[in-house]
Amino acid sequence: MSALMKTIKGNHGGLPYNEVMVIKQLTNLNSKQLLELEAREKEVFGEGGLNRWMLPVIARYGFLFGLFSDEKIIGLASFTSRGTPCRAPTAFLIGFWINEAHRGRGLAKKLLTEAMREIKRSGVDRVELTVDEKNETAVAIYRKAGFKIKRKLESFYGPSQDRLLLAINLLQ
Ligand SMILES: CC(C)(COP(=O)(O)OP(=O)(O)OC[C@H]1O[C@@H](n2cnc3c(N)ncnc32)[C@H](O)[C@@H]1OP(=O)(O)O)[C@@H](O)C(=O)NCCC(=O)NCCS
Repeated sequence: MSALMKTIKGNHGGLPYNEVMVIKQLTNLNSKQLLELEAREKEVFGEGGLNRWMLPVIARYGFLFGLFSDEKIIGLASFTSRGTPCRAPTAFLIGFWINEAHRGRGLAKKLLTEAMREIKRSGVDRVELTVDEKNETAVAIYRKAGFKIKRKLESFYGPSQDRLLLAINLLQ
């Protein structure tokens, strides 16, 4: 099952008039979508990509947002989340990509903005993420979206795999 959240169309953000894109929250993936997303994740992130064992769990217990063009997924934003009675729910952006052919058109910005609007509506107060400081494009996009750099996490993903921890408070 998936819920339509937003339709993007027209001469907007670099999209030609005849192109219609939609953002959907994916709560249950069919086998075809699962294998396709696994392949795309591997293409973009190699062994660090989300796989067929993680994606359905994230869809069900976290948040998975797909950007579609003509029924084809061209972008994905994946979030895990946690909350306790003493701590407001925090979501963690665990995966984020736009197909290479569609980059540089403002689509990452749109997908991230809509995804965060939706998870805020679900009661999430804060979003955190980690990013490689050498990934200047991603760091720039997150900072433009309002994320602040919190600290460096040494060897977060194993030896020499340091990451920057970024966070945004959705209530501000
Ligand atoms: C990171 C990624 C999602 C960006 O997707 P995109 O659709 O090309 O990004 P957008 O076109 O929406 O760019 C959004 C904003 O960032 C800006 N931006 C893009 N690259 C930039 C750069 N190198 N430096 C500064 N700003 C940059 C854009 O100008 C735009 O800002 P504006 O609207 O104010 O002009 C895409 O490059 C990708 O999938 N990369 C591989 C996976 C990855 O690295 N994911 C992040 C892992 S943490």
